[in-house]
Amino acid sequence: MKRLILAAALCLASLPVRADHVRPLTDPETVKACSECHMAFQPAFLPARSWTRMMGQLSDHFGDNASMAPDKAERIRQVLVVGAADTGGGKAGSKAMRGVGFNDVPLRITELPRFRHKHDRISEREWKRPEVMTKSNCPACHKSADMGSYEDE
Ligand code: HEC
Ligand code: HEC
Repeated sequence: MKRLILAAALCLASLPVRADHVRPLTDPETVKACSECHMAFQPAFLPARSWTRMMGQLSDHFGDNASMAPDKAERIRQVLVVGAADTGGGKAGSKAMRGVGFNDVPLRITELPRFRHKHDRISEREWKRPEVMTKSNCPACHKSADMGSYEDE
């Protein structure tokens, strides 16, 4: 019995360390608000300071206006900060932060050193394919991206 419990515990413990798995975003309000124009990116891809800055300037969100009521923006900011790369992001979070300086406030996942490194074999032509269009369109290539799964496909 003891051995069984130990095995189960080991099995659970090994789940979040899978190289390609990022903790999924489950807060319904955040998923809804942040998947209107693109996939709702997992909080673990950016540090807390980045989410805080982004949520403070939603009226100028990468050229779009993504504003919402201040209390709603604050609730969403908190959800993002709790799961951020440098807080609850776990192993995937620390990986995403490789090469990011403590004073850097990156706003794009697609410009992080690790993202660039992992995608450096993809040609300009591939990024511009009509099914892809933009680097931030993760689900075009990672079919289960919204579940936090980024396996090679
Ligand atoms: C009104 C549309 C809209 C809404 C709503 C929206 N976004 Fe965006 N977002 C954009 C656009 C446009 C881009 C730029 C996409 C590109 O360049 O490929 C973007 C880019 C991003 C990026 C950077 C992607 C990259 O290149 O790495 C992040 C992170 C992001 N959004 C987070 C959020 C979060 C968090 C929310 C919810 C609070 C949200 N977005 C809601 C339109 C929106
Ligand atoms: C044009 C297709 C394409 C798009 C769009 C794309 N990726 Fe990828 N991604 C790949 C490929 C192919 C690999 C595998 C690279 C390798 O193994 O050398 C990869 C690898 C990764 C990995 C590493 C997986 C591992 O096991 O090490 C992560 C994490 C990742 N992508 C996240 C993202 C995120 C987040 C987005 C959107 C912001 C995104 N990708 C957009 C094609 C894409």
